[in-house]
Amino acid sequence: MRDLSAELLDWYDVHARSMPWRVAPADKLAGQRPDAYAVWMSEIMLQQTTVAAVTAYFQRFIARWPTVADLAAAEDADVMGEWAGLGYYARARNLLKCARAVVEDHGGQFPADHAALLKLPGIGPYTAAAIASIAFDLRHTVVDGNVERVMARMHDEHTPLPSAKPILTEMADALTPAKRPGDYAQAVMDLGATICTPKSPACGICPWRDPCVARVNGTAPELPKKTPKAAKPIRHGTVYIATRGDGAILLETRPDKGLLGGMLGWPGSDWIAADGPRPQNPPLSANWTKLDGEVRHTFTHFHLMLDVMVAQVPLGAEPTTGTFLPRAQFRPSDLPTVMRKAYDLAQS
Ligand code: ADE
Repeated sequence: MRDLSAELLDWYDVHARSMPWRVAPADKLAGQRPDAYAVWMSEIMLQQTTVAAVTAYFQRFIARWPTVADLAAAEDADVMGEWAGLGYYARARNLLKCARAVVEDHGGQFPADHAALLKLPGIGPYTAAAIASIAFDLRHTVVDGNVERVMARMHDEHTPLPSAKPILTEMADALTPAKRPGDYAQAVMDLGATICTPKSPACGICPWRDPCVARVNGTAPELPKKTPKAAKPIRHGTVYIATRGDGAILLETRPDKGLLGGMLGWPGSDWIAADGPRPQNPPLSANWTKLDGEVRHTFTHFHLMLDVMVAQVPLGAEPTTGTFLPRAQFRPSDLPTVMRKAYDLAQS
């Protein structure tokens, strides 16, 4: 009987991608262990976007808050500012909550236990399995999009996602070894990211080319099948950028609940799903000018189109919402992407 996981681990020992939160297979042999804090941080960030995009954010976070205790003691606004641009801001709020829970309830050490990890804020089944296996080498099965694709192809499974999730998870679990489950999890992810890619898989150099049923049947590029998603609706809104005589600009911290919760942003209207006149509710009365062009941004469930209004306002201006931030304290990089786009339009 072939040992498929051992064959993949042999491949990983040679081809593992180097990432700042990883310990290379050779260094592990020399006794190095991954830092659970770094593994946790990277996994939360990697749920948003690619390894390439995450790397710079990860390095900034770790440089500024080297331990979970440092992060737990951080100001909320500083963490939200560093996260700006990564998206899914509830994750950043949970990141802080989780760091504080690890310090308060676990003495500043992530628990080496799947059930205890699952109880922490922002840690769901995927992240708990990833931390348990990658940081602590406990046998848990990690299933992300890469793993789903590799499993669907290995077994030539044509059930579409998301219905196929339980089947693909079972397949992934059956292949997970008791030895080196953390490296194995990362090996499948690396295989999916570098060889078993969505469009043109490089089957010729794949360590699993022989046992892969989809390769034999010629169906690899069309797997996994996916149930078509409904088209995203479009919403409209307006944001207001008020600049005072001394250069201060009017910003508000958005409520914790809801989209972009806890993030800095321009005051504005609700975002409504209508084609009619766009809602207007300026934060103060002023000589507002609508900028040419508009901001377009896509969230998980809708496309957003924003009008951007700008005005110069006097020193004594009293807005109904938000506060004037001195120009020197304003860092555009603290804005979430959609608000940054509005700022950039106003600068152009
Ligand atoms: N995607 C999410 N976590 C990952 C990891 N540890 N290695 C590679 N890709 C990943």
